[in-house]
Amino acid sequence: MDTSVSVVDGPSLADGKPMVRLPPPPDTPGLRVKAILWRLLWPIRWPLSRLLWMLSWVFRIIQWVAFGLHVAIDYVRLMYLDYTARPDDIFIVSYPRSGTTWLQMILYQLTTDGNMDFAHIAEKCPWFERSAISKRRLDKLPSPRVFKTHLPYIWLPKRRCRYIYVARNGKDVAWSFYQFYRSHFRYRGSFEQFFRLFMRGWVAWGSWFYHVRGYWKRRNDPRFLFLFYEDMVRDLEGTIRRIAAFCGLQIPEERMAEIVRRCRFDFMKQHEEKFDYAFELLVDQGIVPGRFLRKGQVGEGQQSFTPQLHEEFDRKFQRRLAPLGFPLR
Ligand code: A3P
Repeated sequence: MDTSVSVVDGPSLADGKPMVRLPPPPDTPGLRVKAILWRLLWPIRWPLSRLLWMLSWVFRIIQWVAFGLHVAIDYVRLMYLDYTARPDDIFIVSYPRSGTTWLQMILYQLTTDGNMDFAHIAEKCPWFERSAISKRRLDKLPSPRVFKTHLPYIWLPKRRCRYIYVARNGKDVAWSFYQFYRSHFRYRGSFEQFFRLFMRGWVAWGSWFYHVRGYWKRRNDPRFLFLFYEDMVRDLEGTIRRIAAFCGLQIPEERMAEIVRRCRFDFMKQHEEKFDYAFELLVDQGIVPGRFLRKGQVGEGQQSFTPQLHEEFDRKFQRRLAPLGFPLR
């Protein structure tokens, strides 16, 4: 039997499509019996598969309900029991895709030496309501603490601290949110379909109109600073100075140029993994990206074995695999 691999004419390597056609592996009598049984069972395969599909959906729904309850309970716990406000706490508040991450970076630069030696900005400026799930210890953070939140006004923890709200043109938000849904939530609908959901508020974080309305009404409250994304784009330095003044921060004049440079789009884009929500999820789970293809060497890991570990492994190897003739390489 010819088991060679033949090259298929057609797409070039650049397409990433298969360029080879594999011959079938050798058949065995056992496999032939299995194939006959498989064909005989055909009439019940379909209903059985549907039944299991339904069962898996039941468990999925139970899982969603349980998740919803778990989040609600943890949030109530966070809001009313675990979170103790400090007078210098700062909340960055926004509807998603309005410039939240940008404000996180601005406040990080203003309240620290601004070094980029962190895995994700959420370490320095955590997402308030998500800490109910991610189990971040907010009470361990040094003052002044800066939180980000997307909560609508009604859910916001209202204490004696500072709130900076950023609003952005709703149409730009809708488009940016659609792109985010596609890249991070595997959304496959068209923009028109997404737009309908957005207008009804049937998207994560609900209605943009409701969100902005709730905070716009509080724009004159001295605890609130109401900003617009468009103004930040137009005059970044001016916005940074407004934020610093609102928070009562004295920034040495010689630091300002560097802060502005680091808060510009191109600098943040260069460090995108430190701001991307996808990496926040990984970092929250304790996963360190970029360590998957590690060294690719023979015996490198064994240098870290103690004599006891070597001995333990060798003993089990001798018992379980050596008698079968399995070679040790
Ligand atoms: P686009 O998708 O239009 O590019 P959020 O952090 O609230 O989710 O907002 C994300 C939006 O803010 C994205 O908009 C992102 O590019 C923009 N943004 C983040 N940092 C920025 C910066 N330094 N300058 C301008 N826009 C920035």
